[in-house]
Amino acid sequence: MALRTPSSPVRPAFSRWISQSNNITQQFMALGIDPDFISMAGGLPAAEFYPTAAIAEAAEKALARWGSGALEYGPIEGLSALRRHIAERISRESGRTFTIDNVLLTVGAMQGLDLIGKVLIDPGDRIVAQFPTYVGALDAWRPRRPVYEALDWSAETGTGVDSLRTAKFIYTVPNYSNPTGALVPTSARQALLEKALEAGTWLVEDDPYLPLQFDGDTGPSILSLHGRMEPDGAYDGPVVYLGTLSKSIVPGLRVGWTVASAPMIQALALAKQSSDIASSMLTQAIALELLEAGREEAHVPSIVRHYRERRDALCAAASAELGEWFEWDTPPGGMFVWMRTRHPAVDTDALYRFALEEKVAFVPGSVFDPATQLRSAMRVNFTRNAPSVLEEGVARLAKATKRYLTSNY
Ligand SMILES: Cc1ncc(COP(=O)(O)O)c(C=O)c1O
Repeated sequence: MALRTPSSPVRPAFSRWISQSNNITQQFMALGIDPDFISMAGGLPAAEFYPTAAIAEAAEKALARWGSGALEYGPIEGLSALRRHIAERISRESGRTFTIDNVLLTVGAMQGLDLIGKVLIDPGDRIVAQFPTYVGALDAWRPRRPVYEALDWSAETGTGVDSLRTAKFIYTVPNYSNPTGALVPTSARQALLEKALEAGTWLVEDDPYLPLQFDGDTGPSILSLHGRMEPDGAYDGPVVYLGTLSKSIVPGLRVGWTVASAPMIQALALAKQSSDIASSMLTQAIALELLEAGREEAHVPSIVRHYRERRDALCAAASAELGEWFEWDTPPGGMFVWMRTRHPAVDTDALYRFALEEKVAFVPGSVFDPATQLRSAMRVNFTRNAPSVLEEGVARLAKATKRYLTSNY
């Protein structure tokens, strides 16, 4: 019998999605593999500080504690003891009682974003999103064909209640945004929350960078602000909060959580079932051991010290070598410096090709724009590389920029 390859293995809508997303995340991850290449593209922690010994010890303890239970398909909502731990943490932060019914454990925060898309977005729905927007969220939601409106935070003149009334949800990364590194002030969070409450709109608060605070702290999350406004009873508000261990411990555990009203958690859990049956009990059990033993609190201050030093090294090198063409605000936390072009002729999509030839990479701004038009900025990561490597990376970027501007582009 002759075997035939299917002529059209992928449906057209999926092909369109792939070509639009351009596999960008995979491309940036792959750049880190060539040892001569300096990638300041990925949003990656520094591997040399991973708490490997603590993770090995936690794995041993997790297996002793749960036995084969850590190796089974588990409950779709995740390991109850870890859900409880997260619920207690959020309750302490917010002054309102959250229970395990308010917590869904996910494969990183990324799965939470995907599930939110599955549960909420119909084609043509409007999402009011912080602009520029995290590329993972854009990728997760693209197949559902939403339309975007840029969120304007200002209390009086910004996005209004009427606009929110007809939006499916608001999406924001208020702590050290990906890609800009910006921190949204408490007053703006409060104003947005009040508008969302008045409009009856879901508000997705994506918070992976919370632990990476270099200068001062973040202030309360939007979820906590809501908890303080209405401290009584089971949480039934509009905030859908996403957390993760990827930035504070390691991304490879793939442990994240979504905190929301119980009905929203039930909907997301149903959607999750058809995605993965259950996420890894083993890594959830390891995460629980790490959190109960206070390993996250113990680890974060040391990475914060290194990351602050790296941020300063990047900004100092950039001031010396890139100041003629770019400007930026020093981010008070997180992983990224957002460099905006001063020179009208610099298009960061075009510059990117010259940068690759110099064996250095950043992420062009267009990746964070639903319409892919943002060519006047780029995201530069400072956490993954040592200060001396960042300095060399900036020197290569300066060389690439000069070559670009003297070429015919
Ligand atoms: C804003 C934002 N949300 C979600 C994620 C996904 O994180 P996780 O590794 O927990 O899936 C990232 C990762 O870079 C991110 O920057």
